[in-house]
Amino acid sequence: MNSDLVVVGSGFYGLTIAERCARELGLRVLVIDRRSHIGGNAYSEAEASTGIEVHRYGAHLFHTSNERVWDYVTRFTAFTDYQHRVYTNVGGEVFPMPINLGTVNQFFRAAHGPEAARALVAEQAAELAGTEVSNLEEKAISLIGRPLYEAFIKGYTAKQWQTDPRELPASIIARLPVRYTYNNRYFNDTYEGLPVDGYTAWLERMADHPRIEVRLDTDFFDTTQPVNKAAVVGQVPVVYTGPVDRYFDNAEGELSWRTLDFEEEVLDVGDFQGTSVMNYGDEDVPYTRIHEFRHFHPERDYPKDRTVIMREYSRFAETGDEPYYPVNTATDRERVLAYRELAKGEKDVHFGGRLGTYQYLDMHMAIGAALSAYDNTLTPLFRAGARLG
Ligand code: FAD
Ligand code: NA
Repeated sequence: MNSDLVVVGSGFYGLTIAERCARELGLRVLVIDRRSHIGGNAYSEAEASTGIEVHRYGAHLFHTSNERVWDYVTRFTAFTDYQHRVYTNVGGEVFPMPINLGTVNQFFRAAHGPEAARALVAEQAAELAGTEVSNLEEKAISLIGRPLYEAFIKGYTAKQWQTDPRELPASIIARLPVRYTYNNRYFNDTYEGLPVDGYTAWLERMADHPRIEVRLDTDFFDTTQPVNKAAVVGQVPVVYTGPVDRYFDNAEGELSWRTLDFEEEVLDVGDFQGTSVMNYGDEDVPYTRIHEFRHFHPERDYPKDRTVIMREYSRFAETGDEPYYPVNTATDRERVLAYRELAKGEKDVHFGGRLGTYQYLDMHMAIGAALSAYDNTLTPLFRAGARLG
């Protein structure tokens, strides 16, 4: 094998490692991915009949306050000035999200200032004062009161988890911030925007280096192709960003994930919903939200008489489904610890990314974690001429 490093997975974690190691350390890096495209879940492509950029694995909004990550990503792409805002359709009305002074006043048909709204929510949240919260519903009520919980959290959460919120652990929500201003910007980060030429152009530029080779349609566990686990581990250092349980043949049991189903539709209207993301809070609407991709790029010259929408449905993943969000039950946490021990014993293999660490990571977090691993693990390793431990 004439590679110095094998990277399994071409998502942001794997590509960041590959780019740094090829450019800064002069290594020959082989990146494999089992999918037929690079980029992992951030991958996007133009819908064929309209040219509208569609995020294949759900809407991806870039935002960060990490200067190092911003510095790094802007080497590969410029960003638009898009600012994300979300609305929710519930009970036949549309409200701004996250819950803010506009939401509260619209919901209670009131004209409260911040002080009065805060007092109202505090009074409603006091319903369960002095009792111990034992599930998600009680936790939410203790934070924002029953009326706001029932309108904005209950149905949406039940659909997300396909579980009654009274059956869900309180630990799923740590905070439910209510903003006592009219600010409904979704993110609070210093930097926010969408890649001017799209996600795939950005991801391709990261991989575009003479010492990086990308092999698609190549599964690390497929022993009929040359770069597989049995053939490579121990021969050449590996950065593995696939599911950690799969790497160990589910020896400690399968980790549980939620997955999403997407239903795409091209409509003969120029604008379907007037905004990029509309949540649906009512339980009798089966999807959780609708994305309308043209609104992510108002600066582009998209057709004025057609639009692309994507309905999103949420459910527990079964074997073979794409893993999206860790469920993180107590059993999962025990298993993750056991897998982490196994990973330590796996010489020359570094586990990283969303799937390799069983952690939800935003893009900027995956990139930041990869930059740290590059500094703290890969650079010392290759500079010392030693192997990956
Ligand atoms: P991934 O992108 O998942 O890449 C892992 C890669 O490994 C995949 O390409 C996979 O095919 C490959 N792989 C797995 N197993 C194997 C194998 N056996 N052999 C070969 N290859 C393999 N982040 C944001 O910042 N903003 C957002 O709005 C946002 N929205 C998101 C919405 C959803 C539904 C999801 C799931 C994630 C979202 N993210 C968002 C997170 C973003 O997608 C992640 O940060 C990013 O995917 C993490 O990169 P990664 O490289 O760790 O993992
Ligand atoms: Na290891």
